[in-house]
Amino acid sequence: MFATAFPKTNTASRIPSDLFGAIDELKKDLKAIVLAHYYQEPDIQDVADYIGDSLGLSQQAASTDAEVIVFAGVHFMAETAKILNPDKLVILPDLDAGCSLADSCPPNEFKAFKAAHPEHLVISYINCTAEIKALSDIICTSSNAVKIVNQIPRDRSIIFAPDRNLGRYVAEQTGRDLVLWQGSCIVHETFSEKRIVELKTQYPAAKIIAHPECEPAVLRHADFIGSTTALLKYCQSSSDREFIVATEPGIIHQMEKTAPNKRFIPAPAINNCACNECPHMRLNTLEKLYLAMKNKSPEVTLPEDIRVAALQPIQRMLEMS
Ligand code: 13P
Ligand code: SF4
Repeated sequence: MFATAFPKTNTASRIPSDLFGAIDELKKDLKAIVLAHYYQEPDIQDVADYIGDSLGLSQQAASTDAEVIVFAGVHFMAETAKILNPDKLVILPDLDAGCSLADSCPPNEFKAFKAAHPEHLVISYINCTAEIKALSDIICTSSNAVKIVNQIPRDRSIIFAPDRNLGRYVAEQTGRDLVLWQGSCIVHETFSEKRIVELKTQYPAAKIIAHPECEPAVLRHADFIGSTTALLKYCQSSSDREFIVATEPGIIHQMEKTAPNKRFIPAPAINNCACNECPHMRLNTLEKLYLAMKNKSPEVTLPEDIRVAALQPIQRMLEMS
């Protein structure tokens, strides 16, 4: 065990100096796995056992034999892990790490929307609350949404919720007329088309890559559109050397690690502010991750009836992926 000093006076000083070592020890003690999304700060990505997009993270959560799942991501992701693992302890470093997209779809309003389209199949993006999952037939992520919609008979009407930008993109890719819930992500709607075009003039050889949660005005300039994992793989395998990245810039850490000789330029926000960083994802810190593991808290829980109802559409997604 590494040496740690814990002066008695304040909370901050109870944080060991070797946080990486301390987290590794806690992983062994708790038989825990640390799952992290690409939008987490670099230190969290470096300490994680698995880093991935929402689909990869759900697949890991579904297959892990760890006793404790430490979810370095946002609430709907940790909640999905809990839905799949009711008997495991699932902890989230900061319970306030929510999601503007999930918040844009309140369950009562969605119930009424669904009732107005009684014949429709409901496909919901995983970026939603457990209550919305429980009201859905199938869950999807940005990496499998097109594949899942393509498996639905063409004469079947579909509601797609909650992200209107991903929904519009999937409708275009599949040639389907989807009924869209009008939700969106504050981060992906913040990119400025004008600034991206200016950057392209500055770096004419750069490829523009974008997440499908971006608005159509941004997506129409993209050379490649995909989930975070798809964007990462594209940069690794491409013979191009410069990329303008229109998604949360946390992913650039993995891009630089896996393709160190390439250049990654974060797409700027409208006001040149730091609002292209997800304020929810960034609530998690390495210190909070350590404390959550040490205290086995905050724990993610949900009512059993909602969990059971939300499980089936997630399992359908895992089978159809
Ligand atoms: P993916 O990592 O599944 O592409 O999702 C991006 C996102 O916005 C997660 O909140
Ligand atoms: Fe939600 Fe957008 Fe943050 Fe992803 S980036 S967690 S969709 S607010």
